Amino acid sequence: MRFLPFLLAMVALPSVISFAIPDEVFSFCQSPTIVSETLIGEDGNVEVQALQCANTLTPAETGVDKRQNLPVNVCGATCDTNCFVPSGGGPNPNECHVISDALLFNSQNIGPLFNITTDAALIVMQFRSCLSFFVNQAGIDLTYCRTDWASVLDFVAFNCQAPQNAHGGNCVARNQQWFIQVQHS
Ligand SMILES: *[C@@H]1O[C@H](CO)[C@@H](O)[C@H](O)[C@H]1NC(C)=O
Repeated sequence: MRFLPFLLAMVALPSVISFAIPDEVFSFCQSPTIVSETLIGEDGNVEVQALQCANTLTPAETGVDKRQNLPVNVCGATCDTNCFVPSGGGPNPNECHVISDALLFNSQNIGPLFNITTDAALIVMQFRSCLSFFVNQAGIDLTYCRTDWASVLDFVAFNCQAPQNAHGGNCVARNQQWFIQVQHS
């Protein structure tokens, strides 16, 4: 039948949204697989992906006590900001702020907390020029606050810009268990 290929093409169309995995992710996450993806925010225009990496993301010793109750809540934990030098090619901080707004919106409408399990240790958010990701490198499941991610995102986006000779940056937990990166998508 002549229309069969057309029908097959219809059937083959993905029924879910599908975003490209940002190139940056491949630098530390081997063979990433998409565990889930969705659009968030009041306008539903911020892309979110939860990714699983084939390799372990745990760096050296993170001082994790695996006997503690899981997931470990790291809301409010201090992280240290590193700006990426030099200036040029950073994300538009106002576009990063759209992501932080979406996080605040979800905090109010879904809940303040989210889990970052070892099965999907990388959560990626994108809006236009801005890419932000949370990396759980603790080797155990963590819980974090959406409002904290929003604050860190805004801080790095607005304070790691050309005047600081920077193009984005990250904020690394004191105990190395996790970090949040903000950069050009
Ligand atoms: C996080 O995971 C724990 C343990 O599975 C569960 O009890 C809790 O409801 C989860 N929290 C969120 C915000 O999904």
